[in-house]
Amino acid sequence: MATDLRGSGVAGCVRMATGLRVRSASRYSAGPVAHSADDRVICVIGAGYVGLVTAAGLAEAGREVRVVEIDPGRRAAVAAGRSPIHEPGLDGLLAESVGAGRLRAVAGMEAGVEGAGIVVIAVGTPPTPEGEADLSQVHAAVDEAVRHAAPGTVVAMKSTVPPGTTRSLARRSRREDVAFVMFPEFLREGSALEDVRHPSRVVVGGEDPEAVRRVAALADGVDAERVLCDSVSAELIKYGSNAFLATKISFINEMAQLCELTGGDIGSVATGMGLDPRIGRSFLNAGLGWGGSCFPKDVRALETSAGYHGQSFWLLKAAIEVNSQQRRRFTGKLIRGLGGVVEGRRIAILGLAFKPFTDDLRQAPAIDVIRHLEDLGAEVVATDPVALDGARPLLQRTRLVVDGYEAVAGADAVGLVTEWPEYRGLDWARVLELMRGRLVVDGRNCLDGEAIVRLGGIYASMGRRPLGGPASAAGAAEPSLSAEGIPSLPLG
Ligand code: UGA
Repeated sequence: MATDLRGSGVAGCVRMATGLRVRSASRYSAGPVAHSADDRVICVIGAGYVGLVTAAGLAEAGREVRVVEIDPGRRAAVAAGRSPIHEPGLDGLLAESVGAGRLRAVAGMEAGVEGAGIVVIAVGTPPTPEGEADLSQVHAAVDEAVRHAAPGTVVAMKSTVPPGTTRSLARRSRREDVAFVMFPEFLREGSALEDVRHPSRVVVGGEDPEAVRRVAALADGVDAERVLCDSVSAELIKYGSNAFLATKISFINEMAQLCELTGGDIGSVATGMGLDPRIGRSFLNAGLGWGGSCFPKDVRALETSAGYHGQSFWLLKAAIEVNSQQRRRFTGKLIRGLGGVVEGRRIAILGLAFKPFTDDLRQAPAIDVIRHLEDLGAEVVATDPVALDGARPLLQRTRLVVDGYEAVAGADAVGLVTEWPEYRGLDWARVLELMRGRLVVDGRNCLDGEAIVRLGGIYASMGRRPLGGPASAAGAAEPSLSAEGIPSLPLG
């Protein structure tokens, strides 16, 4: 049954996803905790992607924000008002906030946490080899933070953590006067500031209603529905959202495969399906599938977490498998399009980042695709507008070039992996003149295939009929050329 948050003062609609449970009197004093901690002061621990964007957003909203970061390079960048990561608009906002004295980078936990009303934990939860979320950074940050936290401080978990973690952190802290809530983020890399300013929803979960109210108040003035619930539900909202979106993408990618086998067109299918408001068109773009620091890690962590509770989450196992297959399917199109042998052939790869407008290469399809092609003896030349520096240590055999035209010069085939507008905007007549071959494989269905064919190219994409050449030359997944016929792709 939904419980009202008396006197919450939370703006907008308060939707109670589940009833809030008030902490038991044996552990927590009844009623709001008296606190010397000041909610105008927020400490954000971790100047990674989530931490920095959150900190910048809070500073913009008028809070005094301290960012605790142990890495001296990152800390120096933030102190100078520069973003250590590529995120549109973040540099400007950091410079403004640091200049106005609203945001400060600090080295020590004590200096960051002292007197702060809310401590936001935004450290990494990378996957262990078994697929669980590794909580060692969370534990280290929380242990240290609670040592210095004033009575009444709320620890707000932004790090994505498995169900039950927030409650177990509260137990682990042995601080009756410090409350813990789950405060998940729903930021998309590349449009994170937009997501902070105009979130789709504000979710805060915890067992102490006053702590939940105080954290929800961080979003006062933000026009979005609130979901105030228990901490486990908030943890599951975060995992469930990412897992659902990833599954949606895998579903459309399976449909794309069926389109290739039956002669359908995935663009039309996605449009037709997406017009049903219960389905929606977003996240129905077929292609190379999902990568990045969130979906792969979170889908696996949720699946593993379910396993620990005795549940086989079959849908997620399938979504993960389909996602791996997409990389093999794309590579297979290049291989088949080049006659089945890529040894000694030059292949240009356009785009390395896992998606446009970011330099993030974590779980980026390009890395697997390039390594696979190189293992088969291909000579790969790759380019990306912003991710080249990060790619160098990962792709030591690959020639990485700044210019798209330089990448395609002399190539037998071009494979588009990341849908940067720069690549859509290439002069494709010039590209085809510079290439040695004619094959263009579009892993994101973002190029104008008909134009490429008019210019003399052969065009293959994902879930659509190949254009401009015999189907096999264009790398179509013909029934006789199943995914199983493609040499296996080692996935890192
Ligand atoms: C994702 C979620 O969208 C955010 O809500 C969440 O906060 C974030 O993870 C996180 O947990 O931190 P992000 O990883 O930045 O954000 O990227 P998305 O824009 O969601 O794209 C994820 C992947 O799906 C990308 O590899 C993208 O290329 C792929 N994708 C997306 C498709 O293949 N097809 C689509 O239709 C949409």
